[in-house]
Amino acid sequence: MTPPCELCAQAPALSEVEGVEFHCCLVPGTGGCEDILRAVSACGSDHAAPGEGLHLKTELQGYRRPVAGTQPEYLHPAYISSVKRAPTQPLVSIPQTLSEVTGPQFGADDISPCIFDLTRQHKGAPLGERIIVTGRVLDEDARPMAHTLVEVWQANAAGRYLHTIDQHDAPLDPNFTGCGHTLTDADGHYRFITIKPGCYPWRNHHNAWRPAHIHFSLFGPAFATRLVTQMYFPGDPLLASDPIYNCTADEEARKRLISVFDWDTTVPETALGYRFDIVLRGREQTPMEGSE
Ligand SMILES: [Fe+2]
Repeated sequence: MTPPCELCAQAPALSEVEGVEFHCCLVPGTGGCEDILRAVSACGSDHAAPGEGLHLKTELQGYRRPVAGTQPEYLHPAYISSVKRAPTQPLVSIPQTLSEVTGPQFGADDISPCIFDLTRQHKGAPLGERIIVTGRVLDEDARPMAHTLVEVWQANAAGRYLHTIDQHDAPLDPNFTGCGHTLTDADGHYRFITIKPGCYPWRNHHNAWRPAHIHFSLFGPAFATRLVTQMYFPGDPLLASDPIYNCTADEEARKRLISVFDWDTTVPETALGYRFDIVLRGREQTPMEGSE
């Protein structure tokens, strides 16, 4: 006699959620109950303890909303562009389906191994102050987010992006593209080598200059879980007058956008180090763009 499955005890066909049929691992050719539990865990549903049978909720729980004030407002009049693009009608919540909360996901096959080093993407070294930016991606309970795709993009040392829209009167650097990506390791660590970006004017108001910053994008377990934010540098005098930085009302939340100078990351004779931990949810959540 075939022994019962440890997770679901016996069920040959478990459930159907959002049109996706799951099968017990006793059925040849199926993914098995481990896969099912992984999927259920990811989408926030629950199940019975092993040996009690498996009971899937038929209603998926979507992603939780952040605490008010700790994320950038869609409408922040001092940030002129937000007036045009902020929604004028209340948001409509669209229920998420299983496919949106469990995948697809980027993996090692999507990564170029050396592209985390933005100073070695061309024949020569880029101009500017070489720095190392590192940190951990954590969930609300400070657990590491392993194998998360982290992407960065930034201006060069003169404060200019390699982009046709950027016609700022500052030089491009033939040895600097300004983009990189990497996957977090098993402990949620990421690391980039780059140059410190320059400040740049942006015509939001008279004499408007953006503080030095690096754009970050993170993908969670699905495309729907992409988060975008900006990292700033400690002691930047432009932060106090920057409307984008100040879109986040809560001061403590705002400060979580500023990296920390870090001796442990600094490499002698090579580069200063900055630490920037990114928390995806909860009281310590990093403010993210468009996540209200
Ligand atoms: Fe920027």
